[in-house]
Amino acid sequence: MAGIRRVFTNAAKKTTQFALTLGPGSASLVKTTGHLRRMFMEGSALGGVTTPLAESLVLPNGTVLSNRLAKAAMSECLGDARSAPTERHVALYERWASGGAGLLITGNVMVDRRALGEAGNVAVEDDRDLPMLSRWAAAAKAGGAVTLAQLNHPGRQVLAGVSARPVAPSAVGVRGAAGIFRTPRELTGAEIEALIARFAAAAAVMVGAGFDGVEIHAAHGYLISQFLSPLTNLRTDAWGGDLAGRSRLLLEVVRAVRFAVGSDAVVAVKLNSADFQRGGFDRHDAVEVVGMLNNEPVDLVEISGGTYESTAFMGVPAQPVKASTRAREAYFVDFAEEVRDGLRVPLMVSGGFRTVAGMAAALDSGAVDVIGLGRPLALEPDLARRFLDGTAAASTVRPRQLGWRRFDGMTDLIWHTTQLQRMGRRRDPKPGRHPLLTLAEYSWHYAPYLAHRITGGLR
Ligand SMILES: Cc1cc2nc3c(=O)[nH]c(=O)nc-3n(C[C@H](O)[C@H](O)[C@H](O)COP(=O)(O)O)c2cc1C
Repeated sequence: MAGIRRVFTNAAKKTTQFALTLGPGSASLVKTTGHLRRMFMEGSALGGVTTPLAESLVLPNGTVLSNRLAKAAMSECLGDARSAPTERHVALYERWASGGAGLLITGNVMVDRRALGEAGNVAVEDDRDLPMLSRWAAAAKAGGAVTLAQLNHPGRQVLAGVSARPVAPSAVGVRGAAGIFRTPRELTGAEIEALIARFAAAAAVMVGAGFDGVEIHAAHGYLISQFLSPLTNLRTDAWGGDLAGRSRLLLEVVRAVRFAVGSDAVVAVKLNSADFQRGGFDRHDAVEVVGMLNNEPVDLVEISGGTYESTAFMGVPAQPVKASTRAREAYFVDFAEEVRDGLRVPLMVSGGFRTVAGMAAALDSGAVDVIGLGRPLALEPDLARRFLDGTAAASTVRPRQLGWRRFDGMTDLIWHTTQLQRMGRRRDPKPGRHPLLTLAEYSWHYAPYLAHRITGGLR
């Protein structure tokens, strides 16, 4: 059937590429601007345009996303005590695979099994778990979604008891954590080099297992994000100091990962628009780092914000944000608008999207290319499909908190983690669960894991 779909918008050049389909098997790319673009978008030409959510997107490396909806990374905490993936990952991703999103990003997979963020993290250092990783990738891709494995190192954000003494750019502990996190030890230069190699090795294993690429986690206060922040990176060597030094680890990881996976795989980066902490990695730093990433072989930059000290990514920053930002459904879109001009790399924004109208407005602004959805898809895994076919207009998700601001972001995160774990057991999410109950369930999840550690079976 003849039709036309927008596949890529370059807001800086005010141009848009359309895929023009004239008949079965024929498609060509058309570049257009201004009036013609509006005409196409309003559906007056050839009559084939649907909601902007349904438009495909060609990433810089040629990979095509079938629509603009992505499942953002959500740590599944479904790994076994050896930090290996399990049948429960397969069950969960089978569900999301048929859920309609064009892009699925796994929860964070750690690159060092000695440094897990939470109980149940998967760690990948070599191909020892290749068969199960391959089943995980195949399950996620079964519905045609592009699937990325998110790679991470937690640095200092390691729950006490989960891993041995954490490492970080500098020996700066998480503030106000009341023993939940231990004070880290400063990494040596040789250890930093070894960490870069770990990201590259894990990326190669994941792509070898069948994932379409990887997302490097440089947000939310984990190791790479700790390097970016002047509050946590006090180093005076080449890995610290000015922004060029603080961003060196990120750029070297990007280059090593690209070298390891080749040009066919997708390499994405998740970055904070700010840490939302006084004196930390701020908006100006973020604008510069996005510019640096734009000059690297990166296919997608996902924008988020916050750390465990200020959980802006869950909508609960430690410091209040501007009223104009608060009023927006998705709190990082204004950053995307600020940074968009002149960028080659597509932007994904995650955090707060709940309505089709809000998502369509963000896409139509030209600042956002991909909409990231976290909690909505933890509660309603088929919601992307229903958004696309017009049978749903909004998510029913709402914050699950206990009213203790310092921990509201984490309480909400834990509530949703237990919904993922239910789906991993092939059960439906349970919207009525009380947050206290899910906190207890989540803590219980740690018991066998800790027992295994105590009996010395970590490696
Ligand atoms: C249960 C849960 C686990 C998460 N785990 C990760 C993770 O592993 N990596 C990551 O980058 N973000 C993680 N996030 C943050 C999400 O990717 C997303 O940025 C955040 O939920 C905001 O989007 P939302 O408002 O659509 O939920 C997690 C969020 C939730 C709710």
